[in-house]
Amino acid sequence: MDKSFNYIISPEISEFRRFSPKLKIGVLASGKGTNFQELINLSEKGELDIEIKVLITNKEDAGCIKRAEKAEIPFKIIIDKCFTQKDLFELEIINTLINYDVELVVMAGWMKIVTPYFISKFKNKIINIHPSLLPAYKGGSAIKDALLNASKITGCSVHFVEEQVDSGSLIIQAALSILNDDNIETLSKKIQILEHKILPQSISHAGFLIRSNFMENY
Ligand code: GAR
Repeated sequence: MDKSFNYIISPEISEFRRFSPKLKIGVLASGKGTNFQELINLSEKGELDIEIKVLITNKEDAGCIKRAEKAEIPFKIIIDKCFTQKDLFELEIINTLINYDVELVVMAGWMKIVTPYFISKFKNKIINIHPSLLPAYKGGSAIKDALLNASKITGCSVHFVEEQVDSGSLIIQAALSILNDDNIETLSKKIQILEHKILPQSISHAGFLIRSNFMENY
């Protein structure tokens, strides 16, 4: 794949906000964890002032676990099937995030729908990345759906999490063309390159809003 392609990021944040002390984040991820890895890299290089307090995953074989181990980030595997009710599964996640004292919850490839109760516990403090230009192509097969629909443009979005799935105030979006010869692999790779740009930028922005108490009255 040609690594250079045209895209637009809006709004583009050219410099990360500085946080002292570092912004304490908890990451929820279900998959490979390439977005998580980008956060680890930026944090280790001292470019993004975040402290990744904990990774929570709902899959025992998720790639993100190895990344946490390597970076010596605490992680917890919390599997829904081990709980009799969804509330108890979520309570375990909520308690973990509270115990680690996180200021911002980052869903970086979290493939479970969260309940209004969960959202109310971290009001305006949860962000999610989704591989489409929301509100287009919500749900779990966004890239495939864009291709099936023969869309000409797609992208990725980071938004605050609100009660409706893949909804909530948008923070940053990135858009790119879908080319005639694109397939699920090529398009997914291009979208991930953009995700790795807009997720850290969105954390910087959301962290700034949280630290300045802006979101309290939002
Ligand atoms: C990302 O593409 C993210 O947008 C998507 O999961 C992938 C995780 O990749 N999230 C969703 O589809 C949420 N609805 P990663 O594990 O390599 O970071």
